[in-house]
Amino acid sequence: MAQPRFHSAFLALGLILAGCGAPQSGDENSGKTVQTQATAPESSSTASAIEEATRSEGTPAPTPAAAEPSSEFAALPAPYSEASYATGKRVFKLCSTCHTVAEGGPNTIGPNLYKIFGRQIGSTEGFNYSEAVENADFIWTPEQLDQWLESPRNFLPGNRMAFQGVRKPTDRQAVIAYLMVETGWEAAE
Ligand code: HEC
Repeated sequence: MAQPRFHSAFLALGLILAGCGAPQSGDENSGKTVQTQATAPESSSTASAIEEATRSEGTPAPTPAAAEPSSEFAALPAPYSEASYATGKRVFKLCSTCHTVAEGGPNTIGPNLYKIFGRQIGSTEGFNYSEAVENADFIWTPEQLDQWLESPRNFLPGNRMAFQGVRKPTDRQAVIAYLMVETGWEAAE
């Protein structure tokens, strides 16, 4: 007796949507070759798929895309005041491989970013910038940073920040808000 295909495909989609982190369960006991996430697991995993799908209906998504405005950002101008602190902190983990933000923090792979807003690009003391950055001439604003982070390579070709960028606009907003708070941003006169 064959399962209706579209049905299991639908369940698989539900699984993927609900999955966020634990997609492998069910494959061990199926006794078949391991299947990719996108392929519908047949009969043996169906029960757990249903359980998973039903469970996810009543429960709020584990990482809501648009979270509540955070009190940490209340003093910032819009749209940064509406960003999620938790998201900003999470996205900043990507940057922290290469950047410190605290006052007096060291330059590592990238320059320290304390007081980055309102400052000329390429002006952190003691950091050896690329020529592209050395030759660039603008003051960092949240809006400039948004463009830089959308695609560092396109924004300033030849720069040495080996980072592909932050694709999601709300993630960029959140990490910029986080940086504003963490690097001592001050409202311009
Ligand atoms: C792989 C390491 C790496 C990662 C990850 C990284 N950066 Fe950078 N960043 C650099 C380097 C290196 C430079 C200097 C680029 C140059 O000189 O061409 C730089 C430059 C910058 C500058 C310009 C600094 C100045 O003094 O003008 C800003 C702002 C910046 N990064 C922000 C970020 C943010 C925000 C993130 C995370 C979303 C991030 N970077 C992720 C390595 C990194």
